[in-house]
Amino acid sequence: MKVEKIMVIGAGQMGSGIAQVCAEAGYSVLLNDLKAEFVERGLGVIGKNLARQVEKGRLTTTQKEEILGRIAASSDIQDSRGADLVIEAAIENMEVKTKLFAQLDELAPDHAILATNTSSLPITEIAAATRRPEKVIGMHFMNPVPVMKLVEIIRGLATADEVYQTIESITERIGKVPVEVEDFPGFVSNRILMPMINEAIFTLYEGVASKEAIDEVMKLGMNHPMGPLTLADFIGLDTCLYIMETLHEGFGDDKYRPCPLLRKYVKAGWLGRKSGRGFYSYE
Ligand code: CAA
Repeated sequence: MKVEKIMVIGAGQMGSGIAQVCAEAGYSVLLNDLKAEFVERGLGVIGKNLARQVEKGRLTTTQKEEILGRIAASSDIQDSRGADLVIEAAIENMEVKTKLFAQLDELAPDHAILATNTSSLPITEIAAATRRPEKVIGMHFMNPVPVMKLVEIIRGLATADEVYQTIESITERIGKVPVEVEDFPGFVSNRILMPMINEAIFTLYEGVASKEAIDEVMKLGMNHPMGPLTLADFIGLDTCLYIMETLHEGFGDDKYRPCPLLRKYVKAGWLGRKSGRGFYSYE
């Protein structure tokens, strides 16, 4: 299956990172979001990332311009008519994703693969919103996308082998390492990571230690690059809560119960770095 044009839906943290690595690998990329200003913001982040690579002598200015030249902006979903592969990185909400996939199914060419960057939602259910479930697949990138090597690749029940192999080779071409994972809530990454973060929040909630102490223990004691509370702020507390709720609902086991402190912070609008405040303050 030949893939030349990739459309990325969602120009936020994840979507802009995905667009960047695809353009760096030579793909022609369409970066789409609901509003032109969101796409502009995403392109701005990509521009800054590439400028840092130029400063460090890893890219020439010409290469930077070539990469940026491969990314076109779009705020119209109809543009998916020209895509060979769509990678969806919109918000983590099943209703939004199923509506979007039904729409993409109508618009995108018959040969197009529809991939989702969902961090925990069932691929099979998203695929069922289309008439091409064999061409729907999970492609779960890690944040920050330009730095992190892993892409979890998740087959839905109906995903064709040929589609899996195409996505696996694209993942390798963009310099990432594909790991095959079955379609269960949270896949592997978030099934293991999120309960650890949730437990760190319980540890804070129960007054076992200060936030700084909890992070220090995990950084120095376990060699994690970031402590779990810093990492939660980095991922977004709303995303952490949503993933915990998906695990809780999907497995029905109380061990996945989100910590009340996490709920409280999200209700307060303390969403982590992106809102300027989470467990720590970023103003
Ligand atoms: N975009 C692009 N590049 C970035 C970046 C960003 N947002 N943030 C950092 N970098 C680059 C820097 O430019 C730097 O590059 P060079 O080494 O080439 O110069 C490199 O990353 C290291 O950055 P720093 O020196 O500034 O900081 P650091 O050493 O503390 O590393 C980090 C930053 C890579 C984010 C590191 O702290 C880390 O690995 N943290 C854990 C990240 C993690 O666990 N991600 C997974 C989250 S879970 C997820 O994404 C899945 C989900 O579904 C929720």
